[in-house]
Amino acid sequence: MAKTIIELKKADLTLGNAAASVHVLKGIDLEIEEGESVGIVGPSGSGKSTLLMVLAGLETLDSGEIIIKDTPLHRLSEDRIADFRGRNIGIVFQSFHLIANMTALENVAVPLELANVKDAFAIARRELEAVGLGERLNHYPGQLSGGEQQRVAIARALAPSPALLIADEPTGNLDTDTGRQIADLLFAQQVERGTTLLLVTHDPALAARCSRQIRVRSGQIEGDSAHERQSRAAIA
Ligand SMILES: Nc1ncnc2c1ncn2[C@@H]1O[C@H](COP(=O)(O)OP(=O)(O)OP(=O)(O)O)[C@@H](O)[C@H]1O
Ligand SMILES: [Mg+2]
Repeated sequence: MAKTIIELKKADLTLGNAAASVHVLKGIDLEIEEGESVGIVGPSGSGKSTLLMVLAGLETLDSGEIIIKDTPLHRLSEDRIADFRGRNIGIVFQSFHLIANMTALENVAVPLELANVKDAFAIARRELEAVGLGERLNHYPGQLSGGEQQRVAIARALAPSPALLIADEPTGNLDTDTGRQIADLLFAQQVERGTTLLLVTHDPALAARCSRQIRVRSGQIEGDSAHERQSRAAIA
């Protein structure tokens, strides 16, 4: 039986200050199993990115529980969460977030070195080859196309072999063809490594490629294909 990798219970979060506070996540319950690919969709401002930030341990809940790989993040200090994230969670953003004055190889290797991983540069080289950038190791981000920069970001996210890969609109800044190639790469790597993939997208076709689709609206989960399948099975 598949094992639960993520559990959110009554996850609640308000952001901002008194003058501009927004109740962003309103008591979200969610369970995700190991190896799933989950496409998260919903209107702008519905709380998708915030939900990912919570799942990445980059944003702390006001109340509720978040358990990843049997680890209750809501009970850990910020340092312990950062350590957990480094070992278990890879993150890819829409705007790549590469360090401009480091080469592709350094962008992947330096975070590994900081985490005391042995052979950081050898691993980084292998990861860049796996995303098709073996010929671009010494290029700086400014010398790479958008699609190539996103490949570096994916290599960096996957280099520590995380159980969970989180991607916030990973194809949002790319043209249609390049976006499709990046999506192909993400799914191929996900299947090959057995990683659990959570991705937010405004592209219904990309969400449809995931094994499960979740629709967020106004800080709540409005629809979940896993539950819809279950209730269809219960009726049948
Ligand atoms: N630091 C903050 N302070 C106050 N409000 C915030 C903060 N961060 C986000 N919000 C608000 O929370 C809501 C959800 O934001 P979020 O970025 O999660 O939306 P989203 O679903 O990812 O939208 P988009 O599709 O446009 O990326 C928005 O209304 C936003 O204005
Ligand atoms: Mg967003």
